[in-house]
Amino acid sequence: NKKMNIAIDGPAGAGKSTVAKLVAEQLDYLYIDTGAMYRTLTLAALREGIDLQDGGALTHILSQTTIHLQHEQTGVRVLLNNEDVTDAIRLKDVTSNVSLVSSHEGVRIEMVERQRRLAEKGEAVLDGRDIGTYVLPDAEVKVFLTASVEERARRRYEEQKEKGMPADLDQLKEEIAHRDQLDSTRVFAPLKKADDAVEIDSTTLSIPEVAEVIIGLAKERA
Ligand code: C5P
Repeated sequence: NKKMNIAIDGPAGAGKSTVAKLVAEQLDYLYIDTGAMYRTLTLAALREGIDLQDGGALTHILSQTTIHLQHEQTGVRVLLNNEDVTDAIRLKDVTSNVSLVSSHEGVRIEMVERQRRLAEKGEAVLDGRDIGTYVLPDAEVKVFLTASVEERARRRYEEQKEKGMPADLDQLKEEIAHRDQLDSTRVFAPLKKADDAVEIDSTTLSIPEVAEVIIGLAKERA
């Protein structure tokens, strides 16, 4: 069997990470959450009080920062210079600033290099915004996963409620739409469907159903 890579891109809250995790588990592939990497840099920068408009300062901080995606029985832990920040990178302050941090070209160039290194042996599932268009343009399987903004906000809302975090549906909808807007209009490697990506609308599909479609694509290409 060919050692392939699977790229899953799409807007915020479409279910990319849940689907990617499931696909990776079923194929025994490595799951690489590229959004977690940008979130981790954002957290580090917020803590250091760096001006998030300053691409040079952010690129410098990144060069001194290790980000590990550590795979464990219980899931993937995210480590910032060996500190477990798995939960901290999901907090609101990070979410609302991550698009700005990840818009800088210097930041992206370094992140993309790290991501390519992680995927270089193949058998990896990467989820993000620019995997199919920029990080791995030769990925054997490319998926662009979407869902209506209402459905994406509703899923986030349920997720947060389950975690006991207070949430406001309209506000979530606004945040998601705003983040998509920033991610798809940035100059360098914006969120965009690759020409050869298969678009899957998950509005009316369950996570296992989406995973099954992707595994089917992988088997076709194997
Ligand atoms: O996937 P997640 O929602 O955790 O990603 C957080 C943010 O990181 C995105 O909104 C986007 O600004 C940035 N990102 C990116 N390129 C990727 C993955 C994430 O710019 N490949």
